[in-house]
Amino acid sequence: MQLSDKKATLSFSDDSASVEFPVYQGTIGPDVIDIRKLYGQTGMFTYDPGFLATASCESAITYIDGDKGQLLYRGYPIEQLAENCDFMDVSYLILNGELPDANQKQDFDSLVTHHTMVHEQLQLFMRGFRRDAHPMAVLTGLVGALSAFYHDSTDITNARHREISAIRLIAKMPTLVAMAYKYNQGQPYIYPRNDLSYTGNFLRMMFATPCEDYQVNEVVERALDRIFILHADHEQNASTSTVRLCGSSGTNPFAAIASGVACLWGPAHGGANEACLQMLEQLQAEGGVAKVGEFMEKVKDKSSGVRLMGFGHRVYKNYDPRAKLMQATCKEVLTALGLENDPLFKLAMELERIALEDPYFVDRKLYPNVDFYSGIVQRAIGIPTSLFTAIFALARTVGWIAQWDEMLSDPEYKIGRPRQLYTGSAVRDIKS
Ligand code: CMC
Repeated sequence: MQLSDKKATLSFSDDSASVEFPVYQGTIGPDVIDIRKLYGQTGMFTYDPGFLATASCESAITYIDGDKGQLLYRGYPIEQLAENCDFMDVSYLILNGELPDANQKQDFDSLVTHHTMVHEQLQLFMRGFRRDAHPMAVLTGLVGALSAFYHDSTDITNARHREISAIRLIAKMPTLVAMAYKYNQGQPYIYPRNDLSYTGNFLRMMFATPCEDYQVNEVVERALDRIFILHADHEQNASTSTVRLCGSSGTNPFAAIASGVACLWGPAHGGANEACLQMLEQLQAEGGVAKVGEFMEKVKDKSSGVRLMGFGHRVYKNYDPRAKLMQATCKEVLTALGLENDPLFKLAMELERIALEDPYFVDRKLYPNVDFYSGIVQRAIGIPTSLFTAIFALARTVGWIAQWDEMLSDPEYKIGRPRQLYTGSAVRDIKS
């Protein structure tokens, strides 16, 4: 970050002395006011619930311009990455800052492929879960448990350990998600196969059985790979900030990523894809397109507590670029699978059409986000709704681990410790 010529001055209405703060510039995007000395100089904190105006770190990984609807990974627009790269290219890029050349790609693919198996004893660990447990409950436990199985890469001060744990997490996540699914189905686990792509391997671990192998369909493989690319990172969102905060205490990478999985589960974050599909299915069962108008009235009525899931975003105030790409993928998959007339897709398109014309949504700048169409794609592929957020976690793991590593490599890194405005009782005594 670069110091700007500009300075920010904070003055008070009660004659106390004003204070000056440095301003820093990034490559693109808003400048930041460095308020680290605010408390020392004024005895006051800033108040910013939900971090609406707070940059918690410096980062060179992902950039979002919410007004332009722009998303960049390491400077590359998401549209170009989705068109020209696969998830392994994007993972390499997010981790290392540059796209791989042919040799680097081959080495990276091979490295990830050769870490996809998990410790056999994880199968015993899995048996402790109820079979009907939510996959995100299982995944939170499994990812945390990796720290009990792979102690040899948990020294966070050792760059080599950090690198190995990053590869292990990226490589093993598909295996764990597929295991959670198979356990729920009561089917045997399917071991990874090294001659398949990252995404093809995941599909096979999900859908093959010992009695029948699974032939990877190219359109389905490409669609799922695109879902992974679109979810790979998203700057300082709730789960990434959770991973950074958790990791800032010096905990091991598996524990830090488990905290990200737990945060992602919530319906305002990664859980929105599951909630969105449930909303579409319920609306379809209640009458489908004919009932859209009535449903939208409910959404606009704050007392109903109903939100249009898959709509709105804290940062994007002009279409989520991931939603556009997802909509195109949705059409491609439905056509390839002969599901062009899928009623849920029609319903989603109708909801989007109405919302984009309705002043409630237009005035609040609410547009479809990535989750609006991703559920329909995953459902067409055969992925059960309850697994959607686990797929998101699988894809976001590379972003989480890259952000965690970036934090640890930052000389300015400190344990995260927000302050508060205390409004409870002042000091009082217990009456004797
Ligand atoms: N349906 C109806 N009204 C909405 C919606 C929605 N989906 N989203 C926001 N609003 C309204 C909200 O009621 C508020 O209205 P008012 O100003 O009259 O009080 C206004 O829009 C601003 O909402 P907010 O909750 O203050 O906005 P936020 O930036 O804090 O929340 C959000 C962003 C994503 C949590 C929210 O838009 C939401 O709950 N969306 C539905 C859940 C969803 O799809 N989440 C996925 C996010 S993308 C995936 C990811 O990256 O995790």
